[in-house]
Amino acid sequence: MRAKQRVTMMKKLVLYGLVFLTAALVCLALISGIFRYQAEQKPPVSSIEGERILLPPPRSDGAFSVERALAERRSVRHYAPRSIRQSDISQLLWACQGISGPGGLRTSPSAGALYPLEVYLVAGEVEGLSPGIYHYLPADNVLETIRSGDYRADLSLSALNQSAVSEAPAVLVITAVFNRTTGKYGERGIRYVHMEAGHAAQNVYLQATSLGTGTVSIGAFHDGEIQKILSVEDETPLYLMPVGYLL
Ligand SMILES: Cc1cc2nc3c(=O)[nH]c(=O)nc-3n(C[C@H](O)[C@H](O)[C@H](O)COP(=O)(O)O)c2cc1C
Repeated sequence: MRAKQRVTMMKKLVLYGLVFLTAALVCLALISGIFRYQAEQKPPVSSIEGERILLPPPRSDGAFSVERALAERRSVRHYAPRSIRQSDISQLLWACQGISGPGGLRTSPSAGALYPLEVYLVAGEVEGLSPGIYHYLPADNVLETIRSGDYRADLSLSALNQSAVSEAPAVLVITAVFNRTTGKYGERGIRYVHMEAGHAAQNVYLQATSLGTGTVSIGAFHDGEIQKILSVEDETPLYLMPVGYLL
């Protein structure tokens, strides 16, 4: 009788053990599934100097017409207090200086296709991107980390305290390497580079409008201070373009 009871007890113990083990395995699978889902939702966060971050591929088509973008474009200096999607940043950078044709032709025209402009991203609140300063490399659709940290306040201070610069989740900075163009066109090349900055900035305006974001061309700032913040003593900053969602 006792032996029979012992066997029954053992069977019960094995059964309970199996039930417990199955429940634990199901829980583990659920938890790891949740973590995997969350990891898939968030783009990787990055901030190591020199590191290259591949941007989401830009779209070359959309439902928002050029006419509507032209009609609705305005300079926007106040933004919704929320972070900007990495895909929107990628789109804005592409509109500014991205590759759109064979042999590296870009979205903005360039005298002699010499491309004297460089674009930097001062990121404060960009999804999946640590606050920092990044250099846009059009050929690879990549951001290269220049330095980590939130430099929007410093940038704003160098731009006569313009609050659009510190309020926006991110700021595009367009700089120029003049001798790429003056090397071929001499003095006249200076004019060409300025014209090109205008083309690039207007592209950003129109793309920003179609994305439901706003921007403003900012030309009032201290060149030397911006050069120091970006660590680009050999380049001339031409425009700051804060970007953020409309209020
Ligand atoms: C070369 C240039 C420099 C500018 N600099 C500034 C600036 O430093 N700060 C600013 O708030 N707006 C600046 N603007 C934006 C103009 O103020 C704006 O384009 C103008 O008021 C017309 O408004 P809209 O762009 O909404 O049509 C600049 C525009 C250009 C073309």
